Amino acid sequence: MSWFSKDIKSMDDLFVHNLRDIYYAENQIVEALPSMIDKASDARLKQSFQLHLMETKNQIQRLEQIFNMINLEITSVNCPAIDGIIDEANEVAADIDDKMVLDAALIAAAQTVEHYEVARYGTLVAWAKLLGRPDCANILQQTLNEEKNTDMKLSQLAIGEVNKKAA
Ligand SMILES: [Fe+2]
Repeated sequence: MSWFSKDIKSMDDLFVHNLRDIYYAENQIVEALPSMIDKASDARLKQSFQLHLMETKNQIQRLEQIFNMINLEITSVNCPAIDGIIDEANEVAADIDDKMVLDAALIAAAQTVEHYEVARYGTLVAWAKLLGRPDCANILQQTLNEEKNTDMKLSQLAIGEVNKKAA
């Protein structure tokens, strides 16, 4: 940001900023998931993290597709929010010995990530429509649906078995 002018001058700029923010976040999630897969004990939880890792890689490709559609360089901007969520999850996990309690903590962390992503993608879909890019909005909506679905499946796993085993 320069002394004379600010970097985000318009809704277009803000849209692009948030695209680059979620692009950074998705890449951090791809880096974080393998260790979550390792730490998870419940077979269905492990499986659901594995599936989400594949989905996340695909979500990254969708974002790259959007950068191409709007003729923008594929770059990210730091997202301290996702870094904070992941850091906190790692700190908590490091403090837990009991495998079942760790599973409950992993689900809680993953759902925090999902809620962050749902907020971001929800905004991006709305802004893409506002800015006259329903084609981009459709692609972003696919990811939004996946994130919501992942969150719902994690809730079912938590309520269905993991939390009870932990308790
Ligand atoms: Fe994602």
